[in-house]
Amino acid sequence: MNIVIFSGAGLSTESGIPTFRDSGGLWEQHRIEDVASPEGWGRDKKLVLDFYAMRFVKQAECLPNPAHQAIAELSKRFSVTNITQNIDTLLERAGCEDVWHLHGRIDLQKCEFHHSLSFPFDTQFECDYKSRIFHPIKFGDQCPKCGGQLRPDIVWFGEPVDMRDEHLMQLVKAADIFIGVGTSAQVYPAAGLLPMFRKTKEKYFIDPHPNEELLNGFTILQGSASEQLPLLVKKLL
Ligand code: APR
Repeated sequence: MNIVIFSGAGLSTESGIPTFRDSGGLWEQHRIEDVASPEGWGRDKKLVLDFYAMRFVKQAECLPNPAHQAIAELSKRFSVTNITQNIDTLLERAGCEDVWHLHGRIDLQKCEFHHSLSFPFDTQFECDYKSRIFHPIKFGDQCPKCGGQLRPDIVWFGEPVDMRDEHLMQLVKAADIFIGVGTSAQVYPAAGLLPMFRKTKEKYFIDPHPNEELLNGFTILQGSASEQLPLLVKKLL
């Protein structure tokens, strides 16, 4: 049985990582254009690095919650592919192996010249340096290949998402069950995923405040991820 799980910030919030758009969420405390855009990077790299340093430390302190653990349990029996908008590594730390991070990973760094949309926009120069990090990136940390400033390997607003269309189409075709969890599904292209799975027979969506307009054909399990996912996994197992 092939299962696709599409997750957002709500999956990790009970581990202690705040969501973006709920009250008290990250975007209430920080301006997206300052900390999560190439333009913000161009204006103030230190501010951006401090924001991600805070998130790096926070996620390292947090532990997988029962929702991550339930997904790992499900993966032992079935073929489970995670498509996540989350940059934390809590799914991996719970034991999940197949995790596709649409928006990048907080524990990876790359050169600021890694691809063409990075600042500065007019540069023709590209550097492919990328590596794992074990400490937050600091202003002044240089790419060992070209000397550019290192930055988090996170997809900012205005940058291309790693959509891997062919792989996605295969997942859509093969999926027996689709589970959405903890996402407001407002940000494209990830938001376009829900309609792509419309023909999948068994579809669930777990969220305390589900956006019912987007969820035609879904079985809505209203509640928190850590309470609803273990129940659903128990039923599927
Ligand atoms: N369990 C499950 N879902 C929850 C929980 C919980 N305990 N608490 C909150 N939620 C739900 C909210 O009801 C909301 O629908 O999680 C969702 C979080 O939505 P957003 O804050 O918009 O986060 P997300 O959908 O992951 O955002 C997508 O937007 O800003 C960008 O790059 C950022 O990856 C992020 C993307």
